[in-house]
Amino acid sequence: MVDVEGAQVAVFNLEGHYYAIEDVCTHDGGILTGGPVEGDQIVCPRHGARFSIRTGQALTPPAFEPTAAFPVRVIGGEVQVRDDRWD
Ligand code: FES
Repeated sequence: MVDVEGAQVAVFNLEGHYYAIEDVCTHDGGILTGGPVEGDQIVCPRHGARFSIRTGQALTPPAFEPTAAFPVRVIGGEVQVRDDRWD
């Protein structure tokens, strides 16, 4: 997890591909990191909603809205993430 201009961003490495989603569950604002990662999904540790690590999509109740997904790139071995919601 990293702070990107005030947004808490969780970065994942799935089989060599990096993905970044906001570390916030849209059900009740819980922190997603700390929950189990199962395949390309993370399970909210509070009430069990599942989110796609690739897209931020909410996959199961009690969450229905996606969490934000951010662009990621790797430059010179450095993983770069950008919060582009307000560009
Ligand atoms: S806060 Fe994540 S499922 Fe409720």
